[in-house]
Amino acid sequence: MEGPVENRRTQERPKINIKVSGEHNAAFSISPNDMLLKAALEQNIDYPHSCRVGVCGQCKTKLLAGKVSPMVDLALSPLTNQEILDGYFLACQGKVRGDIEIEVRLGHHHVFPEQQISGRVSLWKRLPGDVIELRIALESPFFYEAGQYAYLAESGSFTRRCFSFSDAPPLDPKVGATEVGFLIKRLPGGRFSEWLFEKDRTGIKMWLHGPYGVMGVDEPNADGLCVAGGTGLAPVLSIVEHRLRTSATACFTVVYGVQKQADLFGMDKLTTLASRHPGRLSILPVLSHEPENSDWTGARGLVTQPLDENLGVDFGSVASFICGSLPMVAAVEQRLLALGVNPERIHADKFLPSG
Ligand code: FES
Repeated sequence: MEGPVENRRTQERPKINIKVSGEHNAAFSISPNDMLLKAALEQNIDYPHSCRVGVCGQCKTKLLAGKVSPMVDLALSPLTNQEILDGYFLACQGKVRGDIEIEVRLGHHHVFPEQQISGRVSLWKRLPGDVIELRIALESPFFYEAGQYAYLAESGSFTRRCFSFSDAPPLDPKVGATEVGFLIKRLPGGRFSEWLFEKDRTGIKMWLHGPYGVMGVDEPNADGLCVAGGTGLAPVLSIVEHRLRTSATACFTVVYGVQKQADLFGMDKLTTLASRHPGRLSILPVLSHEPENSDWTGARGLVTQPLDENLGVDFGSVASFICGSLPMVAAVEQRLLALGVNPERIHADKFLPSG
């Protein structure tokens, strides 16, 4: 036993040189066959990422030298053909087998390290649209940024699911949140979802692990266009509330899509924000499956429908935040690009059902 252990200890660890465009170089080492993103995060390196499962594209990294084995078919990844040809890969899906040199923009992404904190459910409330508003009073403060998400698990259970925070974090970054809120849609057959929806869970002990994601990062005074599908409203509420409070001038337009009028949850939160910040928040609910003969006089169709020159948004300068299902986010991204939104300013959070 002694020999191999010693050998493993003295084994050369592959060096990875991180080259940050236009800023400074960084270097760190990881074990052979480690996934690049996971290893970087374990060392508290502020590596861009969000979903960690090969969907969002935030961890996109350019390979300058060496070899990385992708764990997903790159053709099915969010990378474009050109990016693949140019040597980009996804750090969350990239297994490193030897020394490599990469180019990625480190820093400016995650202010807070991972935390694991317990708390008790302080609010369990059914909302329209088969959604539960869940609030958890925490045993100690939790630090996160607007638009981020965390894993939630019932104490003693191995089933955990990730959900976006629906509250803005405290304005002072040195003060953590003592209570956090989530909007959770029922997922038929989903283990966590079925457990949560079964009965009022007020008082139950839960664990919170995170934060993750980089949704809300952009120029603080930029006007914002948010497009939310269903519970994609949660990170949008967090971002809009936070940015309305931190900027004196930024104005927001929220396009929010559900199927029917009876599914519209969270409108009270949006209208409260609008009345607290007069003239700075426009809300446009859109219904995709509302019966023709109903009394609904608002917008109908998909959330992409109202995205045109009549929306009153300067697409050339707006920061956009899109949250919802994969196809919805892809359709909105395409639409915004066609309208001239800068791709660097399209921030997306794609929801994947898990159950
Ligand atoms: S694709 Fe890697 S973090 Fe989302």
